Amino acid sequence: MNKPFVSLEKLKKQYGDVVVFDDVNIGIEKGEFVCIIGHSGCGKSTILNVLAGLDEPSDGAVIMDGAEVAGPSLDRGVVFQHYSLLPWLTTLQNVSFGVRARNPGWSKHQIDEHSKHYLDMVGLTAALNKKPSELSGGMRQRVSIARAFATSPKLLLLDEPFGALDALTRGVIQDELIKIWGETQQTVFMITHDVDEAIFLADRVLLMTNGPDARVAESVKINIPRPRNRANIIEDSGYYQIRNHLVNFLVSRSGELSASAAAGSQAARQTTVDVDPTQIDCIQIDPAQMTTDSLAGQEPPAAESAIDSTVKAVV
Ligand SMILES: Nc1ncnc2c1ncn2[C@@H]1O[C@H](COP(=O)(O)OP(=O)(O)OP(=O)(O)O)[C@@H](O)[C@H]1O
Ligand SMILES: [Mg+2]
Repeated sequence: MNKPFVSLEKLKKQYGDVVVFDDVNIGIEKGEFVCIIGHSGCGKSTILNVLAGLDEPSDGAVIMDGAEVAGPSLDRGVVFQHYSLLPWLTTLQNVSFGVRARNPGWSKHQIDEHSKHYLDMVGLTAALNKKPSELSGGMRQRVSIARAFATSPKLLLLDEPFGALDALTRGVIQDELIKIWGETQQTVFMITHDVDEAIFLADRVLLMTNGPDARVAESVKINIPRPRNRANIIEDSGYYQIRNHLVNFLVSRSGELSASAAAGSQAARQTTVDVDPTQIDCIQIDPAQMTTDSLAGQEPPAAESAIDSTVKAVV
C-alpha cells in the first residue's frame, strides 16, 4: 500500500516527566484539507511545529513525500498562531523575501507583482510600505497569510490563522484559501477552535483528547459536497449531525477519554478511529440552540446558546 503524502508516525512529545501527547499516527493524502481541533494545551501547535520541522518529537517521525522531516523547508509554509513578521521589513518586503527565495530566477518586478497580488487578496494594498509596528494585530496576521500563500508550498500549515480577524475578512480569506487550494492541489493542515470553520473548510477533522498524554482520538469525515457555500451549508442534511458530533467531543468525550486513558483503559488508548457522523446515531442538540456566528454574512442569534458558551469557554 502507498504511504500517504504526509505521515505522522508514533509521534510523542514530552517535557521532563510530562507527556504532552503520545502515539499520534496521522496520514494526510496529497491535496487533502485536514483540520485539527482540541482543547487549549493538548499539543496542536507542537504537532504543527514538528510537521514544519521547527520542533523535534521526543519519539516517532514525520515523513513527507518519502523523506523524513528534519528541519524547515520552503515546501512547507507556516502561518503561526502568533504572527511572526520581520520587524525591520515593510509589508511588501515581508512577503517578497519568501517569494524571492522560492523563485530565485524571477526579476524584482515579477517578485513584487506576485507578492502584491497576495497582499491585495488580504486587503493590504494600502499598507505595502508600512512596518509591522505600524500595523494592527489582524493586519499583521494577514501579512503572514499572504506570505504563506505567495510561496505556494506543497504543505500549508496554518495555526489558528483567522483568529485575529473580523468575521467579514475571515470569510473573504477562507474563500480565497479554498480557491487557492482548489487550484494548486496544496495539502493543508490547519488548527482551529472554530467548529463551523472546520466543517466549512475541511475534508477531515481530527479530534484530540485533553492533555496531558493527549492523542488523536477520532478522524471525522466531512462528506458535505464541494463547492460549499457558507450561506447554505447548514441546509445540508449532514451538517448538524457533524456539528453535534464535534461539539459533543469537545464538551464531553475529549475529557472522558482522557480520564479513561489516565485510569489505564486500553479502549481509551486505542488508535485513531475513523468516524462518519452522518452514518451513526449521535447526540442530538437542538439546531435552534446553536449559533452560526462564525459563518460570515449571517446574523448571529440574539442569545448565545449554552453549548456554544461552553465550547468557547473551554476550548
Ligand atoms: N518549552 C516547553 N516546556 C514545557 N512545556 C511546554 C513547552 N512548550 C509547550 N509546552 C506545553 O506543551 C503543551 C502543548 O502546547 P501547545 O502550544 O502545542 O498547545 P496547543 O494545543 O496549541 O494549545 P492552544 O490551543 O492554547 O494554542 C502545553 O501544555 C504547554 O504547556
Ligand atoms: Mg496552539
